[in-house]
Amino acid sequence: MKAVAIYPGVPDSLHLREVAKPTVDTVANGRGVLVKVLKVGLDGTDKEVIAGLYGKAPPGDDYLIIGHESFGVVEEIGPNVTELKVGDFVVATVRRPGQSIYDLIGMYDMSTDEEYHERGINLLHGFMAEYYVDEPEYIVRVPPGLKEVGVLLEPASVIEKGITQAYEIQRRMRVWRPRRAAVLGAGTIGLLATMSLRMRGLEVCTFARSKPPNRKSDLVDAIGGCYHSTQDITLAEASEDHGNFDLIFEATGYAPIVFEAMNVLAKDGVLVLSSVTGGGRTIEVPADSINLGFVLGNKVVVGTVNANREYFETGIKDMAQCEFQWSGWLSRLLTHGIDGLESYGEIVRLLTEARDAIKVFVKVA
Ligand code: BGC
Ligand code: ZN
Repeated sequence: MKAVAIYPGVPDSLHLREVAKPTVDTVANGRGVLVKVLKVGLDGTDKEVIAGLYGKAPPGDDYLIIGHESFGVVEEIGPNVTELKVGDFVVATVRRPGQSIYDLIGMYDMSTDEEYHERGINLLHGFMAEYYVDEPEYIVRVPPGLKEVGVLLEPASVIEKGITQAYEIQRRMRVWRPRRAAVLGAGTIGLLATMSLRMRGLEVCTFARSKPPNRKSDLVDAIGGCYHSTQDITLAEASEDHGNFDLIFEATGYAPIVFEAMNVLAKDGVLVLSSVTGGGRTIEVPADSINLGFVLGNKVVVGTVNANREYFETGIKDMAQCEFQWSGWLSRLLTHGIDGLESYGEIVRLLTEARDAIKVFVKVA
């Protein structure tokens, strides 16, 4: 079968290759599930993997099949698979458990291991191929009503984890009634976070660079959010206009904004950081004032990465409710589709050049 792969660490090594089609019997105890891949989404992590900045090949191979945002249909199941059936639409989780206690109890997203295994990113082949095989434990069924947008479930799972963690942390308050949230960044993650927070009844201000009106501001407006260009207004000014933010979700990929966000976070508020920033930037910050605000305001900042199965399941619920409330909105995030694995050359071009892209994805079949 065909697959799109890179040589880890080698920039511009993206290529199409012929690999063996996986079979269900490669999974022990008759628990294999063969999935025919329909769509694969791409994000900033893929961009870094393709640029050779991130990612390792599985032991024994010199290449890594990319792709961690999958959507597919079950084509064959092993004799001991009861959870799924042929024809089910599915999305696979990304990380596979390591050794820590959290890995052992299904919370592999909270692993304390040094090295983690992630399909399409680190040490495990990804989904940018005609087929993949995995265990039912890591495969989540998607209702047919969400099949057009199912490829958004992996990014949705990431924001679900961040928001769930924020609410979980805020149980320290006994009563927490957040009214206002800020979402920093209006890429796929920022927009999905905006959606999820709007559905929880919060006023949401979403910040991005480009001036409105544009695709991102239209998408924010459509779900009753309030879009701000950081060229027009700073975070501090917006928080003066609207009031402080009880929850801030950072998803810009630009780390310096984190310290500005710390300053405008409301008392008792929570700041969620989700940008994986591989660079080496340093900046000067008003350390005393940020520290004082955190201490006197009982504030929290929390980092979040990856998502376990539970968050994929809540992602489905939020996406379904979103379809019900703002029908068609999710599909507007799927802006740039690439036809077939053979057109893999388009991936780099769209990831780097399509400035108005929200989600770039490959229609595999
Ligand atoms: C993926 C996560 C992964 C993270 C770090 C993100 O793009 O969505 O599943 O844990 O990259 O590798
Ligand atoms: Zn606003």
